[in-house]
Amino acid sequence: MAVKMFQDKVAIITGSSRGIGKATAIELLKNGATVVLNGRNQERLSQAENELKAIGGNVLTVCGDVSKPNEAKELVDKTIETFGRLDILINNAGVSMRGDMSELTPEVYKTVFETNVFGVVNLTIPALPHIKKTQGSIVFVSSLAGIRGLPGLSAYCSSKMSLRAIAESIRIEEAKSKIHVGLIFVGFTEIEFEKKTISADGSLINIKDRAKFKVQSTESVAKAILKNIKKRKFRTTLSRIGKINAIMQPMLPGLVERILIRSIDKIKKRS
Ligand SMILES: NC(=O)c1ccc[n+]([C@@H]2O[C@H](COP(=O)([O-])OP(=O)(O)OC[C@H]3O[C@@H](n4cnc5c(N)ncnc54)[C@H](OP(=O)(O)O)[C@@H]3O)[C@@H](O)[C@H]2O)c1
Repeated sequence: MAVKMFQDKVAIITGSSRGIGKATAIELLKNGATVVLNGRNQERLSQAENELKAIGGNVLTVCGDVSKPNEAKELVDKTIETFGRLDILINNAGVSMRGDMSELTPEVYKTVFETNVFGVVNLTIPALPHIKKTQGSIVFVSSLAGIRGLPGLSAYCSSKMSLRAIAESIRIEEAKSKIHVGLIFVGFTEIEFEKKTISADGSLINIKDRAKFKVQSTESVAKAILKNIKKRKFRTTLSRIGKINAIMQPMLPGLVERILIRSIDKIKKRS
């Protein structure tokens, strides 16, 4: 029988009870990896676990909030206790927000950073020694909103931009340990029914339906994440608009800004 691409690799995927995280866990499992699922809601996590177990292979679920340092560490500890190694950490768990800076309560920034930045830090620190042992991969799931600031998304954009700084620093710090660090700029992707986002006053609201728009499938994003790991690439930018933006932003930032100002109503209608 042919050896699968991620045979015998152990992977933690944070926020894998649904969406991109779950799709990535499925792809890893199909490619021979042992996967560790995570999320805060036990019921949703159990549903995902059943779905993955039906595919076959090794699945461990660890319910926990990555924004809490002890729960993030427990995710690493339980993985090591159960499987004795860690090869891949995918920092995927993330929350979004909506609202112009003039309308926001500071709490919105705090909530977004707690998961999108501290959640990543809380997990990456205890995971690093294990990833170094296996010369494995740490992947950060960012967004096109992490390439430049976008209207109505300042807290989200700044949290996703932080991931680039974290990833760049680790690449240099750990150059000698030969680990792989990947940074994925994900574009507009399909979302699960009634996915929530944080509104300007901090309450949760439903994200607008994306059925009318051209979006990437979670499966295609998952496949791009696996390709990034396999090829040990640093940056992967998804979607046509993402690729254009990644080239234009450093070369013609003034033009990009003028386009964004002209398209502000269209952007807000979609997001
Ligand atoms: N969908 C897009 O268009 C898009 C575009 C660009 C980038 N991204 C990024 O891709 C990642 C996944 O997005 P998605 O659309 O798949 O999101 P999603 O469907 O809302 O799924 C998010 C996952 O993260 C978990 N989660 C959230 N906060 C957590 C926390 N503090 N601790 C542990 N788990 C947590 C959720 O489960 P619980 O709620 O049960 O904890 C869920 O499993 C995010 O980082 C997002 O910013 C998405």
